[in-house]
Amino acid sequence: MRTFLLLAMVLLAGSWIQATSQQAFSADNSPSSSAAPLAGPEQPLPYSHKLHAGTLGLPCSTCHTKSAFGDSLRIPQATACMECHQAVATDKPAIRELAEYAKSHTIIRWVRIYQLPSFVRFNHQTHVDHSANCEECHGPVPTRERLFKETDLSMKWCVDCHTAKKATTDCTTCHSLQQ
Ligand code: HEC
Ligand code: HEC
Ligand code: HEC
Ligand code: HEC
Ligand code: HEC
Repeated sequence: MRTFLLLAMVLLAGSWIQATSQQAFSADNSPSSSAAPLAGPEQPLPYSHKLHAGTLGLPCSTCHTKSAFGDSLRIPQATACMECHQAVATDKPAIRELAEYAKSHTIIRWVRIYQLPSFVRFNHQTHVDHSANCEECHGPVPTRERLFKETDLSMKWCVDCHTAKKATTDCTTCHSLQQ
């Protein structure tokens, strides 16, 4: 009985260490392709970045166009997908489901992965203009079957890069005093 308990504790400790080292990986702000892909949330359709952005080599901007205000990026809806899937893989169940979304004008409720609290200001364009590439903040997306949060989006994470790149760290850069 004792040996059994000891064994169970060792196994539990092992999985705890594994879990915490995975957390450390996302907190140390260095996404890398060598890390084991963690499971992201299940999405309404089995969309794969590995296939579309990796194998097919589609540029990110094919699907992630700028929003009306220009600060955020759009996540595509079925009509954008149908530009190809009108003709591609139409017999596949997932594509039939996709076509159904488009036909009935139903919104695909993609589960959001990167989202800041509303009191934080962030603009993609400024960052991309300052040579930050997608990978620095989102990890090696074209190798991911399913996306997961690879950087923690904490205030420390933002401020560390601002300090390293000599960008401003004034509170009002990221927070508006009115709020
Ligand atoms: C063919 C369309 C398409 C292309 C090309 C594409 N994406 Fe996406 N992207 C999506 C869809 C659909 C979602 C929502 C489902 C998901 O999270 O996988 C998404 C979600 C994301 C998200 C998560 C957004 C959030 O907060 O929920 C990131 C980050 C992202 N894409 C980055 C990229 C990058 C970087 C590239 C280029 C290397 C890229 N995408 C290319 C369609 C695309
Ligand atoms: C530029 C063209 C293009 C766009 C845009 C595009 N796809 Fe695809 N997609 C493809 C190709 C090519 C394949 C591979 C088809 C095959 O293997 O027969 C594919 C395969 C798929 C598959 C796998 C089907 C299966 O079961 O094998 C799914 C699911 C899918 N796409 C969903 C989407 C979604 C959702 C979007 C929009 C966010 C999208 N695609 C946008 C070209 C595209
Ligand atoms: C400096 C870090 C950084 C870089 C570089 C970056 N992103 Fe993001 N991304 C973020 C943050 C932070 C969010 C959450 C924004 C929010 O909630 O307002 C986000 C959100 C997203 C979303 C969800 C929609 C949105 O705008 O909120 C998509 C899609 C996305 N990023 C794609 C990309 C693509 C494609 C690139 C490269 C062209 C890229 N990102 C470069 C940090 C970054
Ligand atoms: C990869 C490095 C990097 C990361 C990570 C980063 N930033 Fe930045 N950010 C920069 C640089 C460089 C500038 C300077 C741009 C300039 O000089 O105008 C900047 C400028 C800004 C600005 C002022 C310009 C504008 O777009 O209005 C805001 C606000 C900002 N960042 C918010 C954030 C927030 C919030 C986060 C975290 C969620 C973040 N940044 C993460 C590099 C980064
Ligand atoms: C480069 C961007 C950036 C700068 C500069 C910045 N913050 Fe933040 N701040 C953030 C982000 C991102 C969050 C949200 C973190 C999260 O959701 O975990 C945040 C969260 C906060 C919170 C809420 C804390 C919490 O635990 O929910 C407070 C309070 C705050 N910031 C105050 C400040 C003050 C005071 C300064 C100046 C000394 C400052 N911030 C500078 C990006 C920034």
